[in-house]
Order: sequence, then structure tokens, then C-alpha cells
Amino acid sequence: MRIPDFNEARTRDKREYKRLDFELDKDVLGKYSGKKYFIKTYGCQMNEHDSEVIGALLEKLGFEAVDDYLKADLVILNTCSIRENAHNKAFGMLGRLKHLRNEKKDLIIGLCGCMAQEASVVEEILRDYKFVNFVFGTHNMHELPKILDRAIEENQQQIEVYSREGDLYEGLPVVRTNNYKAYVNIIYGCDKFCTYCIVPYTRGRERSREKEDILREVDELIKDGYKEITLLGQNVNAYGKDLYDDYNLGNLLEDIAKKDIPRVRFMTSHPWDFTDKMIEVIGKYPNIMPSVHLPVQSGSSKILKLMGRRYTRESYLELFHKIKSTVKDVAISTDIIVGFPGETEEDFLETLSLVEECKYDNAFTFIFSERVGTPACKLKDNTTLKEKEERLQRLNEVVNKYFLENNNKLLGKVLNVMVEGTSEKKDMYYGYSETNKLINFTSPKELKPGDLVDVEITEAKTWSLDGKVK
Ligand code: 5AD
Ligand code: SF4
Repeated sequence: MRIPDFNEARTRDKREYKRLDFELDKDVLGKYSGKKYFIKTYGCQMNEHDSEVIGALLEKLGFEAVDDYLKADLVILNTCSIRENAHNKAFGMLGRLKHLRNEKKDLIIGLCGCMAQEASVVEEILRDYKFVNFVFGTHNMHELPKILDRAIEENQQQIEVYSREGDLYEGLPVVRTNNYKAYVNIIYGCDKFCTYCIVPYTRGRERSREKEDILREVDELIKDGYKEITLLGQNVNAYGKDLYDDYNLGNLLEDIAKKDIPRVRFMTSHPWDFTDKMIEVIGKYPNIMPSVHLPVQSGSSKILKLMGRRYTRESYLELFHKIKSTVKDVAISTDIIVGFPGETEEDFLETLSLVEECKYDNAFTFIFSERVGTPACKLKDNTTLKEKEERLQRLNEVVNKYFLENNNKLLGKVLNVMVEGTSEKKDMYYGYSETNKLINFTSPKELKPGDLVDVEITEAKTWSLDGKVK
């Protein structure tokens, strides 16, 4: 049994990590053939992609995917710790699984992801959720076959979570949920330690994948007919810093953009290390999508300092405008937290005025959620939840106003859209533009997911656009 510890997770050193090739233990290959699995994924794209690896590992063991947890022999919850509601959702699901286990004695239940990295969660599972068969963390996905097999063979709860990142495994299998767009991890972990954020503790220090491994994965995806790749990392801008002296995200984007791939995206970018080279490359290559997610978190320099964000309102705005003026028709989206400890009405008004200036194309807005073990927990907080909820509502009104205003500007324009599928009523297709806008549209000819089509915009709404293929 291994229980995680945040004090250890917090440590950062220059210890070398090894790049190892994953090899599956031959004894478990196909061992569970005929059994069904279901993975419930919470949280970000990183987790979604991890679930694609977890699913592939299970398929190597012989498991088959099902789309309903009631039909599964094995259910895995891939969890998120970012805010309290993500926590509550996972525990709610565990409650439902407990009932299911009463009816289905052989059901195997596993938990992984960011919550598994929290000692308090693991202790709760040990105490109150004894029916959970196994828990593994974000640093040892490659051990899933062994842990699962042991849980079944020994019929005993297995808790195997490392506090610190280990070596970096290449060659893990992956079953992609999609055959035209794919996620590619480029960097793991985060060293930024924003004071509200749990990620540096749950995902470990920044570790870049070697560029050759990434470029090889991209080549294979292109060969398999993929049209869009999204480079993933908690902070992609830090790519390469731990490995190379003179190769960074700008270089990687450029090397990928030169390949025959229609769409390249990347996320998420911390404003701190967004270099001019990156902006230049994004502006230069038409297949790098003009869509940048640039989380601001707050418009008040005082709050940004308390958040440990390493930039001020002014330096953020300078970067924002540099990107806007260099990358043609770029859409910039953001994340904003309201009700951070110490945020006054004046600080909040600064956030509103920053939004008025940036007129974001998309924004994810949150109320500050206290995460045990992070420095922000110790800050004094005089704002009531009711006030925070009111601020969130006021903020949402302003961001929504600009979503609609930006969308209105697209009326009559022709946008390139990648088809995702048909809408529920089946009378319209839907897909995403280069700037990541959701477009519902009609087409005289039949289309399939992954097709790229030009769509004329006929109607603008707050969260989507309507259009037609001529
Ligand atoms: N409370 C509220 N929102 C948070 N985020 C991260 N940590 C917290 C927290 N403790 C938000 C940030 C981040 C996004 C992924 O989630 O805005 O950019
Ligand atoms: Fe949630 Fe962050 Fe973990 Fe993603 S990395 S699952 S957002 S806590």
C-alpha cells in the first residue's frame, strides 16, 4: 500500500528522470477477455486523454468498452480535484456504485486521477469506501494492469499512489475516442504553484516529452488520417525548458505546422512564458489554429499577486494585445476566478473592466474553491458565498455580452468548419471553426465527421452560430 503525501508532492529538484519504454506483462495479456469496462472521466482534457490510455491498457487485458456503467464488470472513475464540485460528483458516483455492488457482487471498482493523489481522499476510501477494489495515481498509470490483476487475484483492496512523479513512460497504448482529432501530451506536471491550485501537487513537476517522441506520434496520427491534433499540457508554454537549451514550444509548433496536418491546437498557456517566438509562429502558419486560451484569473494586480500568477494586469494586457495584433482574426479565451480571498468590490470591478477591454471569445468563470493543502487556504476571506455568487453572475453577464457581440461580427462570413456529427434532431450538422466556435449548419451534400467544409454564417447566438454549406 502506498498513500500520497502533499509535502513530498510539493518538492521540486533537478533529479533526472528516465525515459522508459512501456512493456506489458505477458501474463495478463488477454486474461480478462469477455469482461466489460466503463470509465467515467471528470475534469480536463489531460484526464480525457489519460482515460484513452487507461481504456487501451484494459483492452490489452481483454476488456471491452461499454457505454453504460450498469453493464460493466469493471468501472473506473478518473477523477478531478480542481474544485469542490468535481470532488462531490466523484463521491456521488461512488455512492451509486456501492448500491450496484450490492446487486452485482463481482463488480470491480477502481479510482484514479487527481483525487487519488490526495491523502485525505485515500484515507476516506480506506475508512468509508472499503468496497473500492483499487486506487492508482497520476504517476503510475502504467502499473494499472498489475494493480488491477492483484486486486482481483488477491481479492483485497489495493492502494498504490506515488507522491512524486516517477519516470516518463513512452509507448503506452491508446484507444482514441475519435478518428479525426487527437490529443498529444507534450508536457506533464506544473511548477507554477499558483496559490489556489492543487495541480502542481496532483500532477508533479514539469516534465517534457522528448521532441522525437512527439513528432513520431504526430507522424503516426497523420498516417492514420487524423486532421486535428491538440498539444496538451498543464502549461504547454514551459515545453522543452527541462530538456533543451534552445528548443521550446515555438520550435515544436513550427516543426508540427510544417507537416501535412490541417489543424494544430495547443492548451493551456500560462501568460508567464508566452514568448514572442510563439506568437510569431502562431501567426505565420495557417494550420496552427488562431485560437489561444490565455487564463487571466483576475483583473486586479493585487489579487494576481496573492494568486502568485507572476504577471500584472498591465503585463497581461500587453501580451493580450500583442497576440491580437500579430495573429490575424485570433480568438482569445480565458479562465476567471471570482471571490479569491481578499478580493474586494474594487478588485472585482477591475476584473470586469479587463473583460470589457479584452472582449473574450470564450471564458470559463468560477467561484474560488478552497483546496486543502494549497497556500490560498490560509488567506483571510471576508466575502460571503452570496456575494461571490452575485459577482459570478455579474461577470457572466458581461462575458456573455461579448460572446454574442463577437459572434455577430461573423454574420455573412465564410468559416472553415470541421464536422463533428449531426445535431440531436439530425437535421443539422455541427462542428467547430478554426477559432473553436460551435457551428450548427445545413449542407446539400452528405458529410462525415472529420470533413472540413466552408460554412456561411447566417445567424449568431451567444454560444453558437448557425450557417449553411453552399
Ligand atoms: N478554485 C476555483 N477555480 C480554480 N481553478 C483552478 N483552481 C481553482 C480553485 N481552487 C480554475 C482556474 C484554472 C481552471 C482550470 O480552473 O481558473 O485556470
Ligand atoms: Fe482536474 Fe487539474 Fe487534474 Fe485536470 S489536472 S483533472 S483540471 S485537477
